[in-house]
Amino acid sequence: MEIEGRAIVVSGGGSGIGRAAVLALAGRGAKVIVADLDETGGRQTVDLAGAKGGVAVFRHCDVTRTEDLAGAFACAFEHFGRLDVAFNNAGIGGEDLFADDPGDWAKVIDIDLTAVIDATRIAVREMRRSGRGGVIINTASMGGLLPMAGSPVYAAAKAGVVNFTRSLAYLAEEANIRVNAICPSFTDTPLVRRSGDEHVEEMGRMVGGILLPEDIAAGVVDLIEDDSRFGAVMRVTVRGGRDFAREVRPY
Ligand SMILES: NC(=O)c1ccc[n+]([C@@H]2O[C@H](COP(=O)([O-])OP(=O)(O)OC[C@H]3O[C@@H](n4cnc5c(N)ncnc54)[C@H](O)[C@@H]3O)[C@@H](O)[C@H]2O)c1
Repeated sequence: MEIEGRAIVVSGGGSGIGRAAVLALAGRGAKVIVADLDETGGRQTVDLAGAKGGVAVFRHCDVTRTEDLAGAFACAFEHFGRLDVAFNNAGIGGEDLFADDPGDWAKVIDIDLTAVIDATRIAVREMRRSGRGGVIINTASMGGLLPMAGSPVYAAAKAGVVNFTRSLAYLAEEANIRVNAICPSFTDTPLVRRSGDEHVEEMGRMVGGILLPEDIAAGVVDLIEDDSRFGAVMRVTVRGGRDFAREVRPY
């Protein structure tokens, strides 16, 4: 799909990978809804896109609320008269499940998996209704393909996103909707910086380097433009660049 002139909803567009994707897409002539819980970050992204001559609109959205998600997709029709791409990217980091205070680990499932399912569900219905088809990209993680000691619930949520996405490959033929996942390795965003600069450097050494949010945005651009990909799982790593996880053979 050509990106110019397309209407795209990016969740988590107020920071990190989502922001880099908004800037890359708006820079290619897309019209973007920046859907985020964080109004300050979201509006900053809109300003950055505008400064580059791009078109972007902020929409407050808590992805765990179905009505907010529906509102974000409706916003694309209101402002741009169409919906072509959903980048379901909003997410939070892992949990220390066995700590004295393990935190609200169920929130990791709610945001990183359940909300991605709900956003995909709504986007597919809207794309079917429009009759134009579309592209859906779900942000998973290399942690959804490999074990992640220390963040087992995050790894489970992201593995869920991977297999959920693979299971929707059939929509390409049935409804001209290509659903793909992107699996970034460790990427330098506010999410990982919150765990401290030292931790970031250590993780970078472990995985062979740290990616930039722009590296993931380039993968998102590829997945929109490459019409041959559906149910595909793109990995983005420092060592391997952009490649695809092996297709799962049907029984
Ligand atoms: N940074 C990494 O190393 C890395 C690696 C693999 C996958 N990911 C995934 O990439 C995605 C983006 O992460 P990032 O690193 O850019 O993080 P980030 O914290 O920089 O950005 C995440 C954005 O999501 C928003 N968000 C969080 N909860 C939300 C909610 N309930 N509703 C709406 N918006 C919400 C935040 O406000 C923020 O703007 C996440 O799904 C994350 O799991 C990140």
